[in-house]
Amino acid sequence: MKIIMLGAPGAGKGTQAKKIAEKYQIPHISTGDIFRANIKNGTELGKKAKSYMDQGQLVPDELTVDLLMDRVKNEDCKNGYVLDGFPRTIPQAEALEDALNKTGDKIDYAINVDVPDENIINRMSGRRACVKCGATYHLVHIPPKTENICDNCGSELILRDDDKPETVKNRLGVYHDQTQPLIDFYTEKGILKEVDGTQKMEDVFEAITALIN
Ligand code: AP5
Ligand code: MG
Repeated sequence: MKIIMLGAPGAGKGTQAKKIAEKYQIPHISTGDIFRANIKNGTELGKKAKSYMDQGQLVPDELTVDLLMDRVKNEDCKNGYVLDGFPRTIPQAEALEDALNKTGDKIDYAINVDVPDENIINRMSGRRACVKCGATYHLVHIPPKTENICDNCGSELILRDDDKPETVKNRLGVYHDQTQPLIDFYTEKGILKEVDGTQKMEDVFEAITALIN
């Protein structure tokens, strides 16, 4: 099963993608997580990506498309995957479709997690992520058992560099300009599914599994 998660920054794509990956035993592939890992390891790609990410801009398609295409060729993707944060532009969606067409494959579902802009800024300022395993929490909605400590691995939780309110506003603008058009793109392909992302995390997940089954 091949799934794309769509939605604004902070809509809960990552939160839901992790649960989907676990339930359906497919890899969760987040281009944002891949870029952040590269930044942490000080790679050339990380240096280039950081300058865009810190401003809330998209990393150019030239750097993103090949990275994703290489990742989905891995052996662990043979039964499918859940993509989180890719595609984010029409050229990225077209590149993915071209690559899949060549092998007679297709995306099964594009799931749009719908959350209005008003809710987003609050979610982002409360988000905390584990420096080590990448698990995400929310100070109010999904708090860790011990303050600032990851439930999974005991490491420290941090606020992401791009979650400052000013940067979040830029990210929302970029989302509406460049990523929202993908909703029409996948509607025309007949694979778009909508879920109300303002519900409780468990209810969003239940809505998603109901759509898939
Ligand atoms: P990326 O890491 O993909 O960030 P994003 O799309 O902005 O999305 P987020 O990860 O911020 O939000 P999310 O939807 O995953 O929400 P989450 O589940 O964490 O990309 C970062 C940057 O990398 C981009 O700005 C760009 O520069 C670059 N990039 C990445 N991919 C790219 C591409 N393809 N092309 C070009 N550039 C690219 O949830 C958010 C918070 O809300 C958490 O605290 C969570 O606990 C909480 N929460 C989740 N669900 C609920 C709920 N139901 N109720 C209450 N709280 C909830
Ligand atoms: Mg995410």
